[in-house]
Amino acid sequence: MTVAAVVPGSFDPITMGHLDIIDRVAARFDRVVVAVLENPRKEGLFTVEERIGLIEAVTGGHDNVEVDRFQGLLVDFCATRGIDVIVKGLRAVSDFEYEVQMAQMNQRMGGVETLFLSTSPEHSFLSSSLIKEIARWEGPVTGTVPPAVEAALRAKYGPARETSGA
Ligand code: PNS
Repeated sequence: MTVAAVVPGSFDPITMGHLDIIDRVAARFDRVVVAVLENPRKEGLFTVEERIGLIEAVTGGHDNVEVDRFQGLLVDFCATRGIDVIVKGLRAVSDFEYEVQMAQMNQRMGGVETLFLSTSPEHSFLSSSLIKEIARWEGPVTGTVPPAVEAALRAKYGPARETSGA
């Protein structure tokens, strides 16, 4: 039996934390779909096309990972794409309440189970929003995102400031 998993998110942009989860899911499932939410109410820094391009660039080493986009309910995307489980990364207790609520709702609506992976400790403080804020003020983001994403952030915001001793 082939088991397919979806790793959904905004990915604006993909971080090392996301990539760590995708790598670990790809090692355990036959097929992995990284699904980028198209949210008409929330304009991102990167267009959906740019986000997909960056995700494809940094997950290209996996034969079983594909990248797609979706609108509307995740359970509907799962039904149309033959996806069995949703996989999410949990960084901290603060993620837990909302993530469990969504998992229970998705289970109720579509019978789709959610599995949680704990984020690797070295990535537990990362978020796309914080990284964008740091990059916007030309602070250091090296190591928090893959190099291709760092280059894309620098193309949007300009080079990082020179830091002394960091
Ligand atoms: O990276 P994010 O923004 O934390 O990802 C959130 C995402 C896209 C996984 C979540 O908002 C989602 O699944 N949205 C799709 C709409 C949906 O299905 N809503 C009902 C959830 S119970």
